[in-house]
Amino acid sequence: MLDSASKTFFHLIAHSQTLKKLASRYGMRRPVSFARRFIAGETVAEAIEAARAVEARGMAVTLDLLGESVLNLDGADAATRDYLAMIDAMIASGIGRNISLKLTQLGLDVDKASAIDNLRKILERAEPAGFFVRIDMENSPYTALTLEIFETLWRHGYRHLGVVLQSALYRSENDLETINALGGRVRLVKGAYKEPKTVAYPKKADVDAAYGRMLKTLLTSGHDPAIATHDPAMIDLARTVAREHGIAPDRFEFQMLYGVRRDLQTLLVNAGYRVRIYIPFGREWFPYFMRRLGERPANVMFVIRGILGEAG
Ligand code: FDA
Repeated sequence: MLDSASKTFFHLIAHSQTLKKLASRYGMRRPVSFARRFIAGETVAEAIEAARAVEARGMAVTLDLLGESVLNLDGADAATRDYLAMIDAMIASGIGRNISLKLTQLGLDVDKASAIDNLRKILERAEPAGFFVRIDMENSPYTALTLEIFETLWRHGYRHLGVVLQSALYRSENDLETINALGGRVRLVKGAYKEPKTVAYPKKADVDAAYGRMLKTLLTSGHDPAIATHDPAMIDLARTVAREHGIAPDRFEFQMLYGVRRDLQTLLVNAGYRVRIYIPFGREWFPYFMRRLGERPANVMFVIRGILGEAG
């Protein structure tokens, strides 16, 4: 993780509409294909091709059609239609049936009821076909609302639905207890957003410590736990906790992002663990890409080399 000032910088850039438009126009095109390391492409076909390659390496996938902060209901409806088409394309392709999505992409900023309706439409198509749908967690203004929507749909019987908790937030350990008690499935992450210290740990060491505590709780009393991190210390801890509590490797999974720590992904698969790769794609890739740059200085150099034509 970068220091707080750099994270703020990338957070601000991520929200620049002008840069977003420019990036969407040029970022994926050769020779400036610098975003390709983290994003599978702009189309479902490209994402499916990437998923096939990941599955050939012995890993599972979740596909994420990038998009967030949709500002009107037409945009939210279009995103919903795109998700439905993506589900159909995934079924036809035969790849693993697992998707991730964001509620602001489905209109949460515009109208909560419409966002829930859109999510229901997706679930109605996805669940009977055996898909699992993960609601990504966005920044802290959406935490309570996201968990409330998850819980409501869960109580309405949607069981192929899971949520994400961020160890960076003070509230998350309590949220984990609540979701475990409900029987819900959690993906545990550190948190990708710049947050105020009123709601989140300002120091990385505290975020890591909370991740360690939550990881233990999730593995020992969670349901189908997903340990989503590239941090070797956290991965070692998960392996130790599992061993000490007699939790078999097929009772939980590690999750990592497309293009990040491929070496570690392979190492875990070879050691007999389940690994799922989060494959993002689509034209709205810019904010996601900026969050990945904000996490690691080396990525910025990678992009600069890409712009100068040295990296593919
Ligand atoms: P940490 O940041 O401590 O990094 C540990 C090591 O991993 C680094 O030293 C480096 O080697 C490697 N690494 C990490 N990030 C890298 C990068 N961008 N490029 C190259 N190497 C990198 N967040 C969120 O807020 N809501 C969500 O819904 C999700 N969903 C999600 C799904 C999945 C499958 C994953 C893996 C992650 C998320 N995240 C997320 C992102 C998460 O919150 C976090 O920002 C990143 O995973 C980076 O944190 P790490 O746990 O990897 O540790």
